[in-house]
Amino acid sequence: MIPRIYIPGDSGALALGAEKVAKAIASELAERGIEAKIVRNGSRGAYFLEPMVEVATANGRVAYGPVKPSDVKSLFDGGFLTGGHHKRWLGAPDKIPFLAKQTRLTFARCGVTDPLSLESYKKHGGLNGLTNALGLTPAAIVAQVTESGLRGRGGAGFPTGIKWKTVLDTSGDRKYIVCNADEGDSGTFADRMIMEGDPFVLIEGMTIAGIATGATKGFVYVRSEYPHAVAVMNKAVDVARKAGVLGASVMGSPYAFDMEIRVGAGAYVCGEETALLDSLEGKRGMVRAKPPLPAHKGLFGKPTVINNVISLASVPVIMDKGAAYYKDFGMGRSRGTIPIQIAGNVKYAGLFEAAFGMTLGEIVDEIGGGTATGRPVKAVQVGGPLGAYFPRTLFDTPFDYEAFAAKDGLIGHAGIVVFDDTADMLKQARFAMEFCAIESCGKCTPCRIGSTRGVETIDKLAAGIEPEKNLALVTDLCNTMKFGSLCALGGFTPYPVMSSITHFPDDFKPAPVRVAAE
Ligand SMILES: Cc1cc2nc3c(=O)[nH]c(=O)nc-3n(C[C@H](O)[C@H](O)[C@H](O)COP(=O)(O)O)c2cc1C
Ligand code: SF4
Repeated sequence: MIPRIYIPGDSGALALGAEKVAKAIASELAERGIEAKIVRNGSRGAYFLEPMVEVATANGRVAYGPVKPSDVKSLFDGGFLTGGHHKRWLGAPDKIPFLAKQTRLTFARCGVTDPLSLESYKKHGGLNGLTNALGLTPAAIVAQVTESGLRGRGGAGFPTGIKWKTVLDTSGDRKYIVCNADEGDSGTFADRMIMEGDPFVLIEGMTIAGIATGATKGFVYVRSEYPHAVAVMNKAVDVARKAGVLGASVMGSPYAFDMEIRVGAGAYVCGEETALLDSLEGKRGMVRAKPPLPAHKGLFGKPTVINNVISLASVPVIMDKGAAYYKDFGMGRSRGTIPIQIAGNVKYAGLFEAAFGMTLGEIVDEIGGGTATGRPVKAVQVGGPLGAYFPRTLFDTPFDYEAFAAKDGLIGHAGIVVFDDTADMLKQARFAMEFCAIESCGKCTPCRIGSTRGVETIDKLAAGIEPEKNLALVTDLCNTMKFGSLCALGGFTPYPVMSSITHFPDDFKPAPVRVAAE
């Protein structure tokens, strides 16, 4: 049997040198006259071990990492093609503690299969969900998704089944499935990993959504910063079309569904669903007032499902294994699993898919291993740039939509960014306001003007000018933005600002006191 070597082609792994490692391995193979198949797989998400190279041996896969080009010669000398020992030897990938502790439902194939091989996809359970869906009525598919408890993973946590039912129940000569792959939140990369590592699961999820709601056309709106994801998705759509998974007759059924990949233009606000629709229609991305809901009047005025990549990519496993199976994971109203993206100043950065319910402390300290700098963790921002900063005292908060809301926070797209004790929370609060000012679409006053006034007021606080008055002013401004903004960009910017003020009051004390305290 020809040896098989897996070298991730994932952007994260590439950023860490995977391409150079792939070249070094290819030339070493040529030099030694060894015939082997190199598979450019996705990443399993343990980024602290990337580039992680795996070989398929008679006893299963063996991983090595993080591999440097300079390791390649000694890897061959040590017999790595048969799993031989080496200083980079990690053993069976699924026994690596960071991976072994996970519950991989949505990411089951990511890093395992060849992303562009439909055969490899099918061999690992791919298309089972779509096959089952084709045997059901659209209403029964929607009922399954509703019953699974799946909620939107893009940020708002809205029940996916209810959204689909609205589109199913709305008549239209044309309906659309739009996949939100704008992934603008800080510290997030789950959507990218799926698109690069298991693109067929997204295609399958979107196709099921089309059949369930009567939509015949899908668009994936990918942020422009993801060229690798765009390339892989385009190739995967081609493969799926040629294989009859997409097209006039989905897998030989009476249903038609096809899709296209579209590239965004680099604005955070274009991740907001209505601004995204404007952008997709070729306009400047401006937030639309609701109603009408996109489910009633969305893309080109037609009934449209807009879902995040992970929401859609979670549907195949639900349709394959059943709503009850999926629902069995999780806590409260947060059912199933959530791919937590651990980033920032953290020792073990990566993607950790787990059932809802782990505490923030477990995620940061046990899974993430604390800070990369070795200093104490000061704060963790959860849910992207609009998410609250959590101090250690809130580390017992379980990863659950309602539990985070109860602590004035949000899960968002499940990105967490860790900060050590050198972080200045006044600067972080200022950054939140500045980010909002830069990214605001400008449609409503509290966000457009409020964010700029917010930056100015925080600057006055930093300069020690009338601290009490200016702190009260920031709080007042936050209330106006929270309750008066049209969308969550202006409406949620107060979360990082107010959580910084509430949990880290010392950082907002006038300069002389801060100096004295230090
Ligand atoms: C400013 C802003 C940016 C957003 N960015 C994204 C994004 O990048 N990706 C995403 O899926 N949802 C994003 N959302 C949420 C979307 O508006 C929408 O709720 C989501 O696409 C719905 O899909 P879901 O129900 O599957 O989560 C953003 C919202 C706001 C207000
Ligand atoms: S809150 Fe900001 S981004 Fe949202 S509609 Fe208003 S101005 Fe636009």
